[in-house]
Amino acid sequence: MAKRTPLISGNWKMHHDHLEAIRVMQKLNFRLPLDAYKTVDVSVHPPFTDLRALQTLIDVDEMSIILGAQHCHWEDKGAFTGEVSPAFLKKLNVSLVIAGHSERRELFHETDEMVNKKVLAILKHEMTPILCCGETLDEREANEADAKVQAQVTAGLNGVAPGDVARLVIAYEPIWAIGTGRTATAADAQAMCKIVRDTVKNVGGSDAAAGVRVQYGGSVKPANIKELMEMPDIDGALVGGASLDPDEFAAIVTY
Ligand code: PGA
Repeated sequence: MAKRTPLISGNWKMHHDHLEAIRVMQKLNFRLPLDAYKTVDVSVHPPFTDLRALQTLIDVDEMSIILGAQHCHWEDKGAFTGEVSPAFLKKLNVSLVIAGHSERRELFHETDEMVNKKVLAILKHEMTPILCCGETLDEREANEADAKVQAQVTAGLNGVAPGDVARLVIAYEPIWAIGTGRTATAADAQAMCKIVRDTVKNVGGSDAAAGVRVQYGGSVKPANIKELMEMPDIDGALVGGASLDPDEFAAIVTY
């Protein structure tokens, strides 16, 4: 079976104000040959305050880079001080929204139920969720990684129509590999991404499993991307630290 079109996403986390974001984006666009987009989708997920500037830049310079967000609320509007509506993101031409990144789960206490509500809200507004899952080091050492990931994916997809599951992106990110310089081996990453796909099959059926794109994330660098991308169940990468530098991120995209 032909592999799905890979998606390589840069998660800037809380880095780059809107002026830095413009510079980084211009450099990234310059570094990426037009041919690159024929074989890979590329998205950038800046902080909320950068979105409007990057939307305009993408539009004016006719860039092929896809605009993404890192998070959103599940309600369209209301008394939720500090939160951002998925409807507002849609208005900014955001196409991909990360839901349930481990930093949101750990630092901001997002539960599986909240993540599921976000996934449904993102889909409702015709954007694509990047649903994140992954185990801690303790869970891995206790042989609980498979069960953790199965549970997170199953909960995240609750109530999602099978046709929608097929166009979803799921990022498997072992927490011990995020920002640590420690990557899962390509074989381990493949094994876990296969578990993600098998879980999708249980929830949404074979077509959903064949269509869903599974990213690996956790210290992805120019030096390890090729090996990861050769794995049959890895369809891309969610890149944090290495996406901040346009040269490094371009090297990853053009692996
Ligand atoms: P990292 O972050 O590439 O810096 O490990 C990945 C992520 O948090 O998505």
